[in-house]
Amino acid sequence: LGNGLATTPQMGWNSWNFFRCDINENVIKQTADALISTGLAKIGYVYVNIDDCWSLARDSNGQIIHDSKAFPSGMKSLADYVHSKGLKLGVYSDAGIMTCQYRPGSLHHEYDDAALFASWGIDYLKYDNCFNLGIEPEKRFPPMRDALNASGRTIFYSLCEWGVNDPALWAGTIGNSWRTTNDILDTWESMTAIADINDKWAAYAGPGGWNDPDMLEVGNGGMTYQEYRAHFSIWALMKAPLLIGCDVRNMTSETFEIISNEEVISVNQDSLGVQGRKVDSYGPEGCYQVWAGPLSGDRVVVALWNRCSHPASITAKWSGIGLELSTSVSVRDLWKHKVVSLKSMTSFSAQVEAHACEMYIFALVTEGRSVS
Ligand code: DGJ
Repeated sequence: LGNGLATTPQMGWNSWNFFRCDINENVIKQTADALISTGLAKIGYVYVNIDDCWSLARDSNGQIIHDSKAFPSGMKSLADYVHSKGLKLGVYSDAGIMTCQYRPGSLHHEYDDAALFASWGIDYLKYDNCFNLGIEPEKRFPPMRDALNASGRTIFYSLCEWGVNDPALWAGTIGNSWRTTNDILDTWESMTAIADINDKWAAYAGPGGWNDPDMLEVGNGGMTYQEYRAHFSIWALMKAPLLIGCDVRNMTSETFEIISNEEVISVNQDSLGVQGRKVDSYGPEGCYQVWAGPLSGDRVVVALWNRCSHPASITAKWSGIGLELSTSVSVRDLWKHKVVSLKSMTSFSAQVEAHACEMYIFALVTEGRSVS
């Protein structure tokens, strides 16, 4: 969507994966505070997004009313607080008559609701797909885009259509991102399945509009350290929105280490904006996988992802990752934070633990000089 936003994938936090409906203004304010105090805001996590359950009903004038027990100071005051920290506030609504949690939906109230959100100073809208009366999404999502455009405020528009009608094919002019899949669960099976579905739509992502394989589960407890590292690595490589889904007020140092890896984040935020893809899978059930994609400045990101339950050596061949044969590269390991090899090769191999994902930037070397 050409509203000037999403030149790189959005980064921030969303309440749903951890808090579900158990949200209130203190949780949101404390989360904003934690994004600042941990340094996460400084490295790009600026959107603080409230998901379902902040609203209660629609009044007789047709205006949405927020849950004043959970948000006694009101949404404008919350936006002011979040803005005072240098962050941005997101809310959630639905392209149907109710949200998935039976709160008021915005279908046929698009202009009223967009104007209300703008009057509060909202910066981001996630727009869900429940209770949609069977109307085509291609008809239900554009009116909110037009209403946001008419609101006088530039608001990030995140479509949550769950991939039902292949939104990658039509949402590029409607939203800044579009969900390509059903909801993520905090499990290895869900995360890997979602990565594979999102991968199919790689060609449709780019500055202004991104495929959204759903929010991060890193830190929520259902996967191992290596699995969460793989989740974060592949989401970054796929140019997915990096929306933290855990309780950042109480995260472990391992969780923080993963989501604050600035080398991995720089892949996600690279100015070229090309979604990396699965370029090779072989071995038992194709579980030795190579994912790669081009970056700005003659560089390539390469991930060696072991989806087997045993350790394995995985090889990326130059042909698969878009390099000319015998091109010399320097290989920087984004989790070890060092250059691991600098030579002329036709392939690169590494030992990868079960379910782990090693991630590298290959920079072309010309005349013995690195161009990284
Ligand atoms: C379905 C969406 O896909 C989730 O991300 C979340 O927003 C829930 N609805 C909230 O009800």
